[in-house]
Amino acid sequence: MNAPVPTWQIRLENPEDDSGIEALNAEGFGPGRFAKSAYRLREGVKPVAGLSFVAVEDGVLRGSVRFWPVRIGGHEELLLGPLAVQSNQRGRGIGIALMQAGIAAAQQGPWRGIILVGDEPYYAKVGFSRLPPGRIKFPGPVDQNRILGLSLKAGEILNLSGEVRRAQIDDAVCANGAGVG
Ligand SMILES: CC(C)(COP(=O)(O)OP(=O)(O)OC[C@H]1O[C@@H](n2cnc3c(N)ncnc32)[C@H](O)[C@@H]1OP(=O)(O)O)[C@@H](O)C(=O)NCCC(=O)NCCS
Repeated sequence: MNAPVPTWQIRLENPEDDSGIEALNAEGFGPGRFAKSAYRLREGVKPVAGLSFVAVEDGVLRGSVRFWPVRIGGHEELLLGPLAVQSNQRGRGIGIALMQAGIAAAQQGPWRGIILVGDEPYYAKVGFSRLPPGRIKFPGPVDQNRILGLSLKAGEILNLSGEVRRAQIDDAVCANGAGVG
């Protein structure tokens, strides 16, 4: 049987999507999302322009993916996420399509790879695999088995090591410096 033809469109996000994306992330991750290590890496840093995509259907935001710059061992690499799909629209291929759009765009850039913290069985569908435990270190507690990576360079194995740090700070963050040191 043929797979159903998608009726959503994937396009780059624009500033008017901000509140809808925030609602998708709140629905997908709940209030605990701000406490995660990955969020601390995003604090005060803007997502990479040109890599943030939304899925839209009948004028409704169905899903969103963003990528953040991070520094690993002195190089700028990418952190995938948040990725969120409307809860009543999951299982239609929207999450995979969003990531594929972002990965294809990232392959045009200077980065060596993308990392994320997530479920390997899902992200393996777009090529991610576990990084060797202990190779990279997040600024907070992270389950080593959920640290995944994808090489953006054809034929190359992703060989990252070191601490994962925030990239250049774009916005002032709170005065007590709650972010990564
Ligand atoms: C994770 C999420 C983005 C997936 O979006 P989606 O549009 O439903 O995903 P897709 O339709 O593209 O892919 C669905 C496939 O992935 C599988 N899948 C989804 N989540 C999975 C998981 N956590 N582990 C393993 N497989 C998973 C489904 O079983 C399905 O498999 P099939 O195609 O063989 O039937 C969505 O469930 C979501 O927004 N969750 C809440 C936020 C979240 O957890 N984000 C990821 C954080 S790391």
